[in-house]
Amino acid sequence: MCGIVAYVGPREAYPILVKGLHRLEYRGYDSAGVAILDDDIQVYKKKGKVSDLEDHVSEKKHRGHVGIGHTRWATHGAPNDINAHPHVSGNGRLALVHNGIIENYGLLKTALEKVGHTFETETDTEVLVHLIEEIQSRESLPLEEAVRVALTRVVGAYAIAVVDRDEPEKIVAARKASPLVIGVGENEFFLGSDATPIIEYTRKVVYLNDEEIALISKDGILSIKTMGNEEQHPAIQELDMKLESLEKGGFEYFMLKEIHEQSKTISDCMRGRMNAEEGWIHLGGLEEFSNKLLDAQRFIIAGCGTSWHAGLIGEYLFEDLARIPVEVEYASELRYRNPIISEKDVVIALSQSGETADTLAALELAKSKGAMIYGIVNSVGSSIARLTDAGSYIHAGPEIGVASTKAFTGQVTLLSMMALSLARKRGTISQTYFLQLLHELSYIPAKVERVLKNENKIKFIASEIKDSANALYLGRGYNFPVALEGALKLKEISYIHAEGYPAAEMKHGPIALIDEHMPVIVIATNRSAYDKIVSNIQEVKARNGYVIAIVTEGDETISQMADSVIEIPDTEEPLTPLLSVIPLQLLSYHIALMRGCNVDQPRNLAKSVTVE
Ligand code: AGP
Ligand code: GLU
Repeated sequence: MCGIVAYVGPREAYPILVKGLHRLEYRGYDSAGVAILDDDIQVYKKKGKVSDLEDHVSEKKHRGHVGIGHTRWATHGAPNDINAHPHVSGNGRLALVHNGIIENYGLLKTALEKVGHTFETETDTEVLVHLIEEIQSRESLPLEEAVRVALTRVVGAYAIAVVDRDEPEKIVAARKASPLVIGVGENEFFLGSDATPIIEYTRKVVYLNDEEIALISKDGILSIKTMGNEEQHPAIQELDMKLESLEKGGFEYFMLKEIHEQSKTISDCMRGRMNAEEGWIHLGGLEEFSNKLLDAQRFIIAGCGTSWHAGLIGEYLFEDLARIPVEVEYASELRYRNPIISEKDVVIALSQSGETADTLAALELAKSKGAMIYGIVNSVGSSIARLTDAGSYIHAGPEIGVASTKAFTGQVTLLSMMALSLARKRGTISQTYFLQLLHELSYIPAKVERVLKNENKIKFIASEIKDSANALYLGRGYNFPVALEGALKLKEISYIHAEGYPAAEMKHGPIALIDEHMPVIVIATNRSAYDKIVSNIQEVKARNGYVIAIVTEGDETISQMADSVIEIPDTEEPLTPLLSVIPLQLLSYHIALMRGCNVDQPRNLAKSVTVE
């Protein structure tokens, strides 16, 4: 995780760095720091948020036109002032920021200590700056060459930016498995872990590839080399991102804004890709490879967290509609368990950020085994989007709240379209049902608006259960993954322990937990198995559980049994997750708010998990 920002050019660096760090704060907020080159290197760093850094710097000297900045999600060493980045070399000449993990830092540290280096921090990162210093002083190499040589000795993942007091006009950056984007302006350059710190200055960007080193300098030079010292010819790309999408737009938190955007983001995901009146679906990324997808013996869907939950819904969709066998895997498990994958499989990765380290590694493994890899990603130009053979963007726009909301509904919309398209091609559903589902899909954005109108009622329910220590989420079929997602949303932002279960599994264990203090949130919109879910609710009520039921508008049976109900509009069963998840997002949001939690930046978490 962590965010890196840097600037070299004619402007004052500090304001650009600080603004960029605010944009990247979603990636980590254990500490923040900057290094600015003037006559010397001025380094300021502080535990906590970027605003704490700003208070700390306040009136202190921070002029200079070259600088690097960092917002940290600690992996090695406590989140405190000392372990905060940038880290400085022993001779005070170099400052470096790093995103990732230097896995062989222990060995390197011992070797460096033997030749006289002393270390001040507990981080893996500090070793790297000392290693560059050591190479520089032994071999008197220019900064970019010393960095290159040092990185050939490093095992692990990194995106780094380094400045050198004795070569004050340049910044050297490099990446391996952690993202880095270079913004190209008029005689100025920007660096960011993503494009958000860059967007208001230039739309021209270069995405650095793995194992590439970039030199950017005040005289307008951009040079990119491989680790093997081969000159590269960078492709400059045009950014397609709106500045407003990075602002809160009047909402108290990004998460609330993103929940309320879902009607629009679901429409954006469908735009130009389907037409219910004319009865077609066309997903660019899919059409080109449709034979490969249609011939696949199996789909393996990989992802983490919320993306994994969307993947589970994908399993129901592909099996139910297109009759394709599917396995859904935690990317972190898939990558390490010697899985059986062949060229007959298609591996579909789901990722909002497109940078999740485990998902990337699982894809690399699948690729090495000959499988076709398909990405369903939000972040344009991200590592997963670039690695995959084919894919589809969900077009949800930047998601900044750490808790994923609109990316989830975007992923499920995309999976629904994909399943429908494949089902039609395989002839596994009738034309009538295909058209029915297509029409229903096109009504989803308006129905999302209707769900959002229930916010006041949801707020009231939130106030009733906000002091609970635990919560149980139950759902069946398509709504089982929604139960998992509801529980994840609650625990990650409100710190209430919550579990999601298939409703029928409750009687195999979790029912023992139920008493009058246990809110049980039941997603009960299924047409199939309706009676079964009614029985599950009865079982909870018989043990005095407090039942909150998500029901279809006009449902009278469950409304009479449950303590509270939230109604959602009726839709075809495979599409219900797109509506039933929304009350759960709002419920978690309001509970977290009432408990005084920082909804957008929950403790210990970061938006983009670029470390293992
Ligand atoms: C969701 O609310 C989480 N914060 C988290 O589980 C997230 O979905 C997961 O880290 C995967 O991220 P990705 O979609 O960017 O790969
Ligand atoms: N491993 C480094 C540290 O703990 C960098 C972590 C990050 O990516 O923020 O400081």
